[in-house]
Amino acid sequence: MSYETIKVRKLTGGCGAEVLGVDLRQLGNRQWEEVQRAFAEFGVIFFRDQTLEPAEHLAFARRWGPIDINRFFPTVPGHPEIAEVRKEPAQRQNIGGGWHTDHSYDTAPAMGSILLARELPEEGGDTLFASMYGAFDALSDGLKATLRGLKAVHSSKHIFGAEARVYEDPVLKARFRNPEQVGDVVHPVVIRHPLSGREALYVNAAFTVRFDGWSVEDSRPLLDFLYRHAAKPEFTCRFRWRPGSIAFWDNRATWHYAANDYHGERRLMHRITVGGCTLAAAA
Ligand code: SIN
Repeated sequence: MSYETIKVRKLTGGCGAEVLGVDLRQLGNRQWEEVQRAFAEFGVIFFRDQTLEPAEHLAFARRWGPIDINRFFPTVPGHPEIAEVRKEPAQRQNIGGGWHTDHSYDTAPAMGSILLARELPEEGGDTLFASMYGAFDALSDGLKATLRGLKAVHSSKHIFGAEARVYEDPVLKARFRNPEQVGDVVHPVVIRHPLSGREALYVNAAFTVRFDGWSVEDSRPLLDFLYRHAAKPEFTCRFRWRPGSIAFWDNRATWHYAANDYHGERRLMHRITVGGCTLAAAA
């Protein structure tokens, strides 16, 4: 089905499209219906030149579902529902600098995340996305069948816990909150997406620690294979930000990766995570 009230320009690669000709502060009914359709079709959609105030950012997010506040991230002063994704010139590590999907360590993970660019480096700081539909579809039938029968353990302990070693940068680590609220959950390895009806791979390198019922050591080779496979260029796209750009990604259909290639410069993004997500096993 074509789009009539918005312009949709697919990015090169395995997912993602730019949605042009919209002002997110005043979407008409037909535009809203078509934006929802583009989100379901491409897994991640991008908007340009959206000069949204925090309240307008929140209003757009609430159209999709309830706000799911990230309990670990620092928040924007005065706006506790908006997470701050910030890298300062003196910082070496960034947030999200590895393939992941947001909140998979929660029982009901965030459905989607709406990231708005506030301040950007001169060059770099792109975000990459990978299609978990494309990654799953490209596997052999035998492996697909095996994966459909598996569940995996996702954890926030090794990332946000008091003893976590992943974020070594003391400035960055000190900004995270609630280290005692970490935990483990179990999700299906292959989910059936409620919007598209397609099967998607649901493990990620940041938060998935092992297959349920398997040891970490036994899980490692197959998980590593899946991580290498799903990050192949043909499943990915890369987005170059401008101030006022927005990316809205579906955490059930994509992974993302924040490139950390702009040391010495500031990058400030505002992120709202939208809840209302249940994960149905594909099988
Ligand atoms: C994130 O991982 O949510 C942040 C992505 C980015 O900063 O590009």
